[in-house]
Amino acid sequence: MKIPHPIQYQGSKRNLAATILEYFPANVQTVIEPFAGTAAISVATAYQKKANRFLINDLNKPLLDLLQLIIETPEEIANAYEKLWHEQQLDSIGHYFSVRDEFNCSGDSRLFLYLLARCAKGAVRYNNAGYMNQSPDKRRKGTLPATMRKNIQGVSALLKGKCEFSSLDYKVVLKQVVNTDLVYMDPPYQGVCGDKDSRYYAGIHHGEFIESLAELNAQGISYLVSYDGKTGNKNYGEKLPNTLNLTCVEINAGRSSQATLLGRQEITFESLYISPALAKRLLQPHVKKAREVMVTESCYA
Ligand SMILES: C[S@@+](CC[C@H](N)C(=O)[O-])C[C@H]1O[C@@H](n2cnc3c(N)ncnc32)[C@H](O)[C@@H]1O
Repeated sequence: MKIPHPIQYQGSKRNLAATILEYFPANVQTVIEPFAGTAAISVATAYQKKANRFLINDLNKPLLDLLQLIIETPEEIANAYEKLWHEQQLDSIGHYFSVRDEFNCSGDSRLFLYLLARCAKGAVRYNNAGYMNQSPDKRRKGTLPATMRKNIQGVSALLKGKCEFSSLDYKVVLKQVVNTDLVYMDPPYQGVCGDKDSRYYAGIHHGEFIESLAELNAQGISYLVSYDGKTGNKNYGEKLPNTLNLTCVEINAGRSSQATLLGRQEITFESLYISPALAKRLLQPHVKKAREVMVTESCYA
């Protein structure tokens, strides 16, 4: 079975999930995703049966509501998508813009699924006022309803009845974390001062995020953070500081499509940071799988 994925979303960790899950310890009770996006890591965790409880949070409320509908009421959201998809046939572009207007007024996540499937480059965009402003894809009409239904049913089969949902700022979520949890954090790529990034509904402040990680360290919490990255000589995002005492591994995220377009064969590497408490759990003698990469590769070099 292929891992199902109904939602296209920039920054989705769908393709890196298997590698990230290599750094999950045994005996995780609850996986917490404060920046869930499409919850690709929770879906893959359930698929690999590495945990049974999930806390899925994202500040983007329509996105979070959409995840909840997909997981808890799959037939309802699949039917809504099918209806909207068929309605576009006569004037697909005009239909997209009217659904987008309606979504920007109501925040209705059923409309959001259609927009995510139908928007240009499969990449949602927001203006400064927080309204979705991406144009439609002029050539494609969006995932076929039958394919969408299959993916929705697949995600629901993996996660139904196992999740708690919230749409809070990540700092509020981190206050609830206990030692038996595993927190996976994938915040938007950041500059130093929380600049608005049009790809996401909200952003975070780098300094505040570091303070939150220091607090988690003080409590001995196991966590993983996907943060910065690089393609060739170009770095993206601020690195997390040495003072946090994190183990950093570079994950090969494959060929950069941007660089390929420009005729360069550059690979993108994304940093995955491992908290001190988690690194200790992973290096216990009873952990069978070798994780040499933890000591041989370092993004601090
Ligand atoms: C890089 S995406 C996560 C992608 C996700 N790992 C996936 O596989 O789809 C970052 C997410 O963080 C959310 N976000 C931004 N600021 C936030 C905040 N302060 N608290 C909680 N979520 C936030 C955004 O809405 C966005 O969905």
